[in-house]
Amino acid sequence: MKLRVFDNEELVARALGERIASAVRQRPNIVLGLPTGRTPIATYAELRRLHLEQGLSFARASTFNLDEFVGLHGRHPGSFRFFMQRHLFDTVDLAPERIHFLDGMAADLDVECERYERDIAALGGIDLQVLGIGSNGHIGFNEPAEELVANTHHVELHEGTRRDNAAQFGGDPARVPREALSMGMGTILRAGALILVATGERKARCIERTVRGPVTTRLPASFLQMHRAVEVYLDRPAASLLAVE
Ligand code: F6R
Repeated sequence: MKLRVFDNEELVARALGERIASAVRQRPNIVLGLPTGRTPIATYAELRRLHLEQGLSFARASTFNLDEFVGLHGRHPGSFRFFMQRHLFDTVDLAPERIHFLDGMAADLDVECERYERDIAALGGIDLQVLGIGSNGHIGFNEPAEELVANTHHVELHEGTRRDNAAQFGGDPARVPREALSMGMGTILRAGALILVATGERKARCIERTVRGPVTTRLPASFLQMHRAVEVYLDRPAASLLAVE
């Protein structure tokens, strides 16, 4: 894993924005995998800035988001689709038909997960997958467990994860859906390159275990060690348990 440590969150967003921008410039029809969550918000703002100020164009790029809640429409303010519209899709020139999302309202959720895998494969796979990490080491909604599911699948969310997502639901964890759809660790590991981003001291322990620890389903992020092109973007607090400069 290639570690990149920055003094603060703002510098992480700057560097990661530039990293994504350079991949898009190099390959305008790139297939990007994208996360939601608090961590990438500043990076998405940076992409918007590069689009407005430097003419960075996403017109030929395609995107696949990692996950979505079950039972929420894309226009629900708590949905990940809504989040992405607000923080990225409405602010840059992505073509709506090249934005791919899991539909948490699909009549048959298993069929919907298979459809997503097929759509990813049809575009030749994800070139660059950006990932956040939960403080329990989850990636996408692949929660720590005895076993992990490789492909896109239907998941039951852990209580802690529902608490972490309460902000979009008026701060009330009880209003956070109990289920979600998520790319599997296999889907993620099939991407050409992976970038994991984490900021803040709350992530320090899971980052240390992700980078240095054994590969275990009890820490889904540890599976990233098995991919040959992983970059990890951290601020100092998130890197505080790693002995790196
Ligand atoms: C969201 C996702 C999650 C988040 C993780 C970290 O699409 O896949 O795994 O990346 O929960 O969330 P934040 O950034 O809010 O700490």
